[in-house]
Amino acid sequence: MKTLTITRPDDWHLHVRTGAVLQTVMPHTARRFARAIIMPNLKPPVTTVAQALVYREEILQAVPTGLDFSPLMTLYLTGSTTADEIKKAAESEHIHAFKLYPAGATTNSDSGVADIKAVYPLFAAMERHDIPLLIHGEVTDDACDIFDRERVFIDAYLSDITRNFPALRVVLEHVTTTEAVQFVQDADANIAATITPQHLLFNRNAILAGGIKPHYYCLPIIKRESHRLALVAAATSGNPKFFLGTDSAPHLTSLKETACGCAGCYSAHAALELYAEVFEGANALDKLEGFASFYGADFYRLPRNSGTISLEKTVWKVPSAYGEDNLSITPLKANEELCWKLG
Ligand code: DOR
Ligand code: ZN
Repeated sequence: MKTLTITRPDDWHLHVRTGAVLQTVMPHTARRFARAIIMPNLKPPVTTVAQALVYREEILQAVPTGLDFSPLMTLYLTGSTTADEIKKAAESEHIHAFKLYPAGATTNSDSGVADIKAVYPLFAAMERHDIPLLIHGEVTDDACDIFDRERVFIDAYLSDITRNFPALRVVLEHVTTTEAVQFVQDADANIAATITPQHLLFNRNAILAGGIKPHYYCLPIIKRESHRLALVAAATSGNPKFFLGTDSAPHLTSLKETACGCAGCYSAHAALELYAEVFEGANALDKLEGFASFYGADFYRLPRNSGTISLEKTVWKVPSAYGEDNLSITPLKANEELCWKLG
């Protein structure tokens, strides 16, 4: 049997929520990844170091015994974030970044930033304290076509941010377009990007052709095939600016399969397996370890993991849902076969 062994990977963009959902999803991530950047878009959002430390404890409680997993916490940037909180975050060993959600861009982003220019003094503080800024890069203008919102954000905001704060470390999260790939490639070494499995595996036909499929709906929305090909090329290029970030975003099945379904694809159940499928398809399995296990750690200035993880080339069927009792989370590729399996 074919086996793929790489250094233990990390997930540089993850949603785990709280309560029963957290209990359901945490084992999936902890079995595959040594660390994950935990997104702060809870209700209410995680805006202070004190709140993040409480949330971190709740996450650690949900890690099955015997597994070694470290949550890397982030804070949600708002118009009310203070320079003092940024200093405190930079000094905390458990806080690794701030997340910028333009207000209204996505799930639980109502408390996000409405006027990006107005928080420039906060970007200056992050640059000074050398703590990374993670960006959900989409404009929220109703007049802007949803498929153009990332491209427009780059021209309207991102170029200006990177020009004004040249030493600020920035991750453009979950890139979905040729233009985003190009921007990150051309930028200085302190500008990087995460790429999700769904944006590497699917184009927008997955959401809209042959019936509407809510489990493929996430934000930024999956784009056309030419963009997917640019993302696969970037992920498999060996360029350290591009690294693994699943954006695994669990929502109850009932809140996805409804007239106004939530944005988010749940992928933690098979995250590494899905990436392996993409890299194998691009004949670039040798590039998976850098993307999954090295480049993100280097960017965040954390040590690379020791230990390894193995995947086997075995077909298995993804269940229709995860979760007990009244809780159901439909995973990406539910009821479909995957060709890589956790060893
Ligand atoms: O699809 C998404 N879901 N995109 C995001 O930016 C947020 C995420 C979530 O939290 O559900
Ligand atoms: Zn996300």
